[in-house]
Amino acid sequence: MTEKKTTKGTIKVLSFGPYLVEGDIPLVHKTQIVSEYGEPLNWKTDEVLKTEGPYELCRCGHSLEKPFCDSTHCECDFDGIEKAPTDNFVDRQRVNESGTGIVVKSDFTLCMDSGFCGNRIANIKKMIADTAEPKVRAEIMAMIDRCPSGTYSYAMDKEGEDIEADYPVQIAVTTEITSEGPIEGSLWATGYIPVERSDGKPFETRNRVTLCNCGESKKKPLCDGTHRHIQEEALKKAKQ
Ligand code: FES
Repeated sequence: MTEKKTTKGTIKVLSFGPYLVEGDIPLVHKTQIVSEYGEPLNWKTDEVLKTEGPYELCRCGHSLEKPFCDSTHCECDFDGIEKAPTDNFVDRQRVNESGTGIVVKSDFTLCMDSGFCGNRIANIKKMIADTAEPKVRAEIMAMIDRCPSGTYSYAMDKEGEDIEADYPVQIAVTTEITSEGPIEGSLWATGYIPVERSDGKPFETRNRVTLCNCGESKKKPLCDGTHRHIQEEALKKAKQ
């Protein structure tokens, strides 16, 4: 068994306030790459954002200086209650051992519907039946690697360790591309950055985690995809 990875930096959830980021964690902007059919394929880094020392990232969704906090949360009736589970992926995971050369694990309490686990033809669940074909296996691995939330993970066999993509220690402010147009996505923290609740208790440290920065998730501090529904509706209405 390899040691559990952690980094020096920390993301602290401040009670009914922003995320306090300590430890010189780089902040970047990433945009989703989608196919001509709207299928999420990958991410591209567009920009490294300037930060100096510890910084605070908006959690309520109303800062005029997003991604940074401008204290608007004090005035906007922000419900910052943290409801995300504090147990571990391994305790919640479902293990699918029916594949060839791959064991797929999933925990949908982490899911924020980013869509990387499927395309217009199939999805991971269906593709497992065809993993005797290495190309299909490789595609499942790539889909799992690109999912920002870490809902899925995989091992080579039942006894094997989970294999994680080699992500950098960084936080990405994301833009998602939807059928209605580009929208603001969640914060995507990678590289085993510890996330601490406002009461000081740690969440499980994982290679990747998506954090709500719209203020509307029902499982804060995790993103649950609500930002997408809200912004897509707004874009639809604006087009009418
Ligand atoms: S950023 Fe708030 S639900 Fe996704």
